[in-house]
Parts: sequence; C-alpha cells; structure tokens
Amino acid sequence: MKNAFLILLLGSVVSALAGPAAAQVTSGSPGDKKLSPKQEEAAELKACVQHLAGGFLKVPDTRELRFQGKVTTQTARCRGGQQAVEFQFTPWVDWARYWGAGDSSSLPVGFLSVKGPQLRGIAGALTDLEYQRMELIKFNLFDNSGTYQTYLSGRGGVGGAALKTWPEMRLPKDSPDYDAVGGDGEQLCKGDLIRARTLNGICNDIRNPRMGSTGMPFMRNVEFETTFPDLEQTTLTKNRHGGRINLLTPDPQLISRKLFTRPQSSPAACNSGFGLPNNSVDANCDYEKAPFFNVLAAYWIQFMTHDWFSHMDDGHNAPGPMMDVGCKSKLVNNVPTPLTPDEIQKLGCRPNDAVDKTYVLNDSPPEQFSVSGHTYLSRAPKTYANNNTAWWDASQLYGYDETSVKRVKRDPQDSAKMLLESIPPFAGGYLPVLQPSDPAQPQWRGQESVAFPDNWSIGLTFYHNLFAREHNSFVDEFRRQAAQNPTTDSGLRNPSVPSHVIRNQEVTPDELFNAARLVIAAEIAKIHTIEWTTQLLYDEPLYKGMNANWNGLLGAGDPEVSQALSDLVVHNFGKSEDVKKATQWYSAFASGPGIIGLGSNVDHYEITNSNDVNGGVNHFGAPFNFPEEFVTVYRLHPLVPDLIEYRDAGKDPNKIVEKVAVIQTFENKATDAMRSRGIANWGLSLGRQRLGLLTLHNHPQFLQNIRLPRLDSPTGQIDIAALDLVRDREHGVPRFNEFRRQYGLKQLTSYDDFVDQTLPADSAARKQQMETIAQLREIYGTHVCDSAKVITDAQLNPDGTPINDCLGHPNGSVVDNIEDVDTVVGWLAEYTRPHGFAISETQFVVFILNASRRLYSDRFFTSSFRPEFYTNLGVDWVNHNGPGPEMMETGTPNGHRQPVAPLKRVLMRNIPELTPELQHVINAFDPWGRDRGQYYSLEWKPRPDATSDSAFKP
Ligand code: HEM
Repeated sequence: MKNAFLILLLGSVVSALAGPAAAQVTSGSPGDKKLSPKQEEAAELKACVQHLAGGFLKVPDTRELRFQGKVTTQTARCRGGQQAVEFQFTPWVDWARYWGAGDSSSLPVGFLSVKGPQLRGIAGALTDLEYQRMELIKFNLFDNSGTYQTYLSGRGGVGGAALKTWPEMRLPKDSPDYDAVGGDGEQLCKGDLIRARTLNGICNDIRNPRMGSTGMPFMRNVEFETTFPDLEQTTLTKNRHGGRINLLTPDPQLISRKLFTRPQSSPAACNSGFGLPNNSVDANCDYEKAPFFNVLAAYWIQFMTHDWFSHMDDGHNAPGPMMDVGCKSKLVNNVPTPLTPDEIQKLGCRPNDAVDKTYVLNDSPPEQFSVSGHTYLSRAPKTYANNNTAWWDASQLYGYDETSVKRVKRDPQDSAKMLLESIPPFAGGYLPVLQPSDPAQPQWRGQESVAFPDNWSIGLTFYHNLFAREHNSFVDEFRRQAAQNPTTDSGLRNPSVPSHVIRNQEVTPDELFNAARLVIAAEIAKIHTIEWTTQLLYDEPLYKGMNANWNGLLGAGDPEVSQALSDLVVHNFGKSEDVKKATQWYSAFASGPGIIGLGSNVDHYEITNSNDVNGGVNHFGAPFNFPEEFVTVYRLHPLVPDLIEYRDAGKDPNKIVEKVAVIQTFENKATDAMRSRGIANWGLSLGRQRLGLLTLHNHPQFLQNIRLPRLDSPTGQIDIAALDLVRDREHGVPRFNEFRRQYGLKQLTSYDDFVDQTLPADSAARKQQMETIAQLREIYGTHVCDSAKVITDAQLNPDGTPINDCLGHPNGSVVDNIEDVDTVVGWLAEYTRPHGFAISETQFVVFILNASRRLYSDRFFTSSFRPEFYTNLGVDWVNHNGPGPEMMETGTPNGHRQPVAPLKRVLMRNIPELTPELQHVINAFDPWGRDRGQYYSLEWKPRPDATSDSAFKP
C-alpha cells in the first residue's frame, strides 16, 4: 500500500516535471445534477481516465501561469467527486475537498470500497502540495543580502538557482574567525568551527560561513517591487492602492478594536483579561476555542519563534523618538477623518500610544539591474536584520551572541549539563534566576536566566525548564552508558585528528554539551515537524506530508528504496548544475526518503571531506534566512487565552481549581508562578486547555492593553494586536490580496469571498460572517473602479488579460478595497479552511516553502546528521525519541501504526508526574482530556475518565 501510494504520488509529480503541456485549468460549476453513488463512482472513474489522458500540470516558466491550487474539473472529480467539483468556483485550494482529506464524512458512502477514492484523494492532495512547493521554490526566493542579481543571471554558465556559494556569505574582515576560514582566499570552515552548532550560527554551511548567522538580513518571499506598497514606487502599486494606505491608515487600533476584540458575555467576569481576585474560578473570559489544539501548542510556537528570528535586539528596538501609534481616524469615503472623543471612548482605544521603531539595517536606495530586458531591484527598499541565528539550533536555550550566552548557566559539578536547582517540595530541577551580574534588560529582572528572555510567559518558562531537563537527561544517559562501556567508540570525531576514535571515556564535558545541543535542537525540530504541525493541520494529507518531510513517505519500512532515492537526490540532483534538477526534481524526490539525514548515509564518510560534511544541503539558489512574510504569518497572538484554567496534577486532574490571568504570568510573574506551583501542574493545565482559534474577534484582551516598561510614552501601554499591523506595514509586507497572488494563490475579488460557501445560507455562523464582512467594508471602504488601471503582474485573469482595479467587476462599478486589507486581517478572516487547519491556507503556503527550507539548508539535519557530530547515542536518541529502542503506540490512531510521539516521550521522561495523564494522549498538542474519536474527528468530547472535567460542560 505504501509503495503503491508513493508510486502514484511520485509518478504524477515526475510526469509534471518531464511532462506534456499543462492541462487547462477550468472551474467547476455548482449546478451539476445529483447522481446516485454508483453513477457518481462511474463518473469519477471516467474523470480519472480523462485526467490521465489530459496530462499533468507542468511547473510553468513564468510566475503569472502558476497553478494557484486549482485543478481541472476532471482532476477534481477523480480525486474528490462532486463535492470537490462544487468547491472549485471558490478562491480556495481544491485539495481540501478530495476524498479522505477531512474527517470520516469525507469518505464516500455507497461506493464499492473507500480505499480507491481515499488513495486518489490523499495522493492527489500531496501531489498538489508538492506542486505548490516546487513553484514556491521557483518563484518565491528573494534574498536581501546582495545575491539576487546572480540568482537571476547565473554565474559562469551555471543557472542562478543551481548556484551553491555566494561571495556575500563570506565572513567579513572584522570577524574573529576570518583567518580560520581562509581569510581573503577561498573560505571553507574546518576544524573546531564545523564540529557543532556555533554560537552565532556561522559555518553551518561550511562553504558559506556567514549564512544564517546572527544579524543577517531577513529575506523576502515576494518580489522586491511589491514590498513597501505604501511608498507606491511603481505604477502597479499606485494603481492597486490609489493613495489610500500608509503606516496609520486605515487606523490599526480602530481595526484592532472593531475586528480583533474578543466579545464578552460577561465583561465583569473577565475584567479586561485580569480575571477575579484570588484567581476565582468564577472568572470567565470568552474566547473562540480550537477543539483539537491545546495551550501548550500556543506557547510552543512562541518558544519556536524565539529560536528562529527577532527584529528586536536583546529586548529593545531602535533608540530615538517613539513612533506615534495611537488611534486617530476612521475612513469616510476613503478619507481619514478624525475620531471624535465619543467614538474614542466607545472604541476604548488610546490616542496617545507610542512605540519604538524597528532597527533598520539598510535603507539606502537599492541598485537596479537588467536581465533579458527587464529591470529589477537588487533588494527591498529597506532591509531589517534577523538578530537571531536563522537556524533551528535551539538558540533560545543556548544563545546566539556573546551577550545572550552569558545568561546560559552550566552546572559547575558537570559542565556538560545545564545548571538546574531544586525547589522543594517539587521533584526535578529548575532553571536559576538572573543574577545582578548577568546582562539583562530591567524588565527581565526576577526571570529565569536564559538566552532569549523577552516577552517571558508561563509557557516559555515551561519549555525552557523542560528542555534544560531533557538536555541533562541526555547527558545522564551518556554518562551512564560511558560508565558501563568506557572504551566503546562514542561516534564523535575531531576533524583536526580524524583518524582518532573518541571513546566514551574521552568525551570532554564541552564535547558532550555541544552534542547535547545538537540532539535537543533536532528533537525540537522533529517535535515541531511531526507532532505540532500534524496537530495544527489535523488531517491525513498533512500527517503524511509532514512525516514525509522528516522520515520520507517511505518511512523506515523500505530502507533500500529510501537509500537509493536519497543517493539519487543528493548525488545526482543536488550536484546538478541544471536548475530544474537542482530545485524541482530535488524537492519532489526528497519526499521519498525524507529530508532528515539526506546525504548522511555515505560509504566511507570522512569528516574532513567537505562534500561529505556539506553535501546534503540545498538552498535552491538563495542563501537561507527567514523572510519578513514568515514573521507576518507567525503573528499568532489570538492563540493565547486571557485566563488559564489551572489544575492540580496531584489531586483531581478533571478539576479546574483556579482561573489565573495570563497577564499575571507575564515576565517575572511567570517565573514566580513556575517556581511556586511546579512544572507538573502547569503542564497538566496547559495540556488540558484549548487554545484560541486564529480568527477575527479573538485577540486576548490583555494584549490590547498591555503595559511595557520600555515604552517612553504618555500611556506606557500598547495594543499588541494593532502593533502586529503597524510592524507589518513598517516592514513593507504587501497587503493580503497581492500577498496571495505573490505566493501563487487565487486572489479575492470582494470581501464576500471570505464567507465559507459550504455553510447553509441561513446558518448562524454564516450570518455572523456576513456581519464581519460588513465591518470590513466599513473599515477598509470601497471605491469606483477603473479598468484601465492594471494592478499586478504576478497573475493574469483566466482569459489571459491583465488583472485591473475592477477585479473582474464592470468598469466604473463600486468595488471593495480588498487590495488594502492587511495581511494579518486577511488570513484571520479566512473562514474557509481545509479540515483540521488551525491556520489559514494563506499562512500555510508560507510554511510549505520555509518549513522545508530550514531543513534542506541545515547540514546538521542532512549530511552532518551523523555520530561524528551527534555521538551514536545522539543519533539514536533523535531517531527513537529517546534512549533505547523505539516505543510504539498501542492501537492505530487514525489508521497508523506509529511510534510514541517525541514530545510525549520528553514529557514522560522529564516530568514523570504527568505519565498517568499522558497514557491517554497520542499527540501532546491535542487537548489531553479529549477523546480523539474516529478518523480526524474534531469533536469536543471527553475521554471516558475525563467526563467530570468542567471544560467539557456546555
Ligand atoms: C503571553 C503571551 C505573549 C506576549 C505578552 C507577547 C508579546 C509580544 C510583544 C511585546 C512583541 C513585540 C512587539 C514589537 O515591539 O514589535 C511581540 C512580538 C511578536 N510575537 Fe508575541 N507575545 C505573546 C505570545 C506570542 C505567541 C503565542 C506567538 C506565536 C507565535 C507570538 C508571536 C510573536 C511574533 C511573531 C512577534 C514579532 C517578532 C519580531 O518582529 O521579530 N507571540 N509579542
């Protein structure tokens, strides 16, 4: 079955790469007559034949011919029947309606068997996703550090996308490691610089030492010309926005208050997110909840973003005068008109809010160049530094520069370990608190001493403590095995003395610390890829897709085929100077063996051979860093509830004993809360509670009114929800509709397109959505359109004509200012989503590209995922989710026989008090008291022993 599946999937992707002309994309019509199941099955099989005869889609040569997630009517019918055809007229991706892509109701009824349709549906969905990834790799990489011209024009006869090294990624003269990597000559990292993850991220790619290191510019996923739309630098952007937008127009705080605020059934019980005295359980802050995702998942992603990126530098933005971000105006006939005092009071907004500006890296006018008669910008008009390493290297725990590393405390008894102290009566160790001698911002005083202490929350203290314990668990196990077998080969090698076998007893504390860091970072990446994301996107295509990213579609079941494919990918496509092979073929075939360990399984691997050490990475022609657009789609503040339903793990886990305001667990109060109540109780509480849905009208109240000591402003407060919009505008993120076009998704033509078309016309949910649409229209406005104004070159109309200001409506008609909608507002307004998606499809498309890239680009996840760096124990630990052989889950959740998930193992190992509770849990990010039911059910139903849990009461 697994091989049949892979053949089907790869077959269709390969045909696409080699393939015949693209089939014409047509739209289905909702009006087809109802067929019996037998007639429907016959019609589908006929459609499958037509789909095969029509040939497969081809990755196009130019961006405006992209696939947009929409297939032909025959393909949709073959993969999802009439329900998929009926969905085609919407702007949203087609695969969401394929057979098997939802819960059990997405499987056909009355057919000969559900197996065939399910296979077609899931393989079809994965094929569409792989097309998307190949197109994203081809059309959405825009490096801001000076390599873009070579990306387009190539070098020495090699196409830009097949290039592997860039002069811009050399270490500069002032780097302390300049000489060590080769100085003025060819730069190549070696010796100690390649053994482990370096503090500032240099030498991950040993031939591009500077790539991904602290302080390198954020890249972009959109054409530079479309960034900073409010500057209206091109005729297209001028036509698109008609002078209607700037940093404070439409007014961000007005948007926040009208579109983001969580409505409260009992405002007094919520008390603006502060709850009630003594953490009374009578407190209540309403929020829309995701039934299949818990608060641990919300804090997990905050924990991850602190590893990946930061616009701020050690907790502060640019010095200088604060920027006015108070509420000021509303749009009347597209003209900003001052808010009256009465309106300000009703909105509850603050006209005198101000905030510090983001540090700018480079705002000199970018150079222009021409290729094939077309003129391009060499970078965006402004660039910003990522003040973190871009690697998935657990830098939030271990540090990313000389300041942050001073806060990382090692155990003086065994310096391979993190320093943890005991806090009776709780079991296990806890991170120490910052000392006056530690470098820290004033607002961090009293918090745990960690590398990335900003915006400290109860969830961050939870994960930092948990992974410090996990680090020590690894060291303890290594020491235990080393004591038993002191002369056994540890697996480690020193590239300066490569032939020397480093035996267990010889491993120094520093070597062990560094190996533990590699293990923890890889374990975190694995948890994120196959546990967090498969619950964030809770359906079968994504379960398969994410496991494919990590282990490959072949999994561990077909090691020989897997090895053969891996060799093909790395040695053939990876080394190819043919752009198509080096990018699209590479990506398509890598889904067979998976990305982790690509290129690591080499006969006679030599740690001194740069081809062996570095041979598995692929940057697809653009040096790796995160794009600004990635930060945008991680502005996930609605995930956070206002109140935490606190439980006591030692008593009845079904009982909520207190309601603790999240704001009372901010900064050093998080540390107090952790140290006074213990990690097990917080784990249980965060694990049982549902997080907030990513939708409009669902931002936490406390974040709209938060006080930050660093603000030198009249109010001292800031609305973080509004600030998310301000920052995106400051960083020049294109607005929602162009954002979608740039990423190869279908545009919207009015606010009404947000409404979920699958809802019955008279349903309450649909009515509510229509009310929000009316608010969007009031806030962002409408205008009389002019069809002479072309607004984009990223896509064309279906008839091949340019897209103009009227978006398909008649010239001179009143159209929505849909082009002006902020990207965050747009993706929050996406009511139509694939099954089990806690995020929207627009956010997801950004992840498809960047989540894969941060694995493909990192040699420690590919060709350096080897015992020479990780130790033998380390490689096994990552592969088996801990010490010893792999532990298998009992039963077959959603039809899969699967190992016990990695975070579940980490939790049981390091917080054993939680083991009885976790026995019932398959995925640590699914609310722990929930009965998972059948095939991807989203039902909010208690498991048998949690029926008394009041979270399940209506
Ligand atoms: C207690 C919870 C949280 C608090 C108090 C908080 C607070 C903040 C603050 C003060 C900023 C800086 C704004 C600025 O000056 O630009 C920020 C930025 C941000 N937050 Fe949160 N946040 C919380 C939870 C989360 C969560 C759960 C996520 C999920 C991913 C998240 C994602 C982000 C992102 C992506 C940024 C932008 C970072 C950057 O520009 O580099 N936050 N948050």
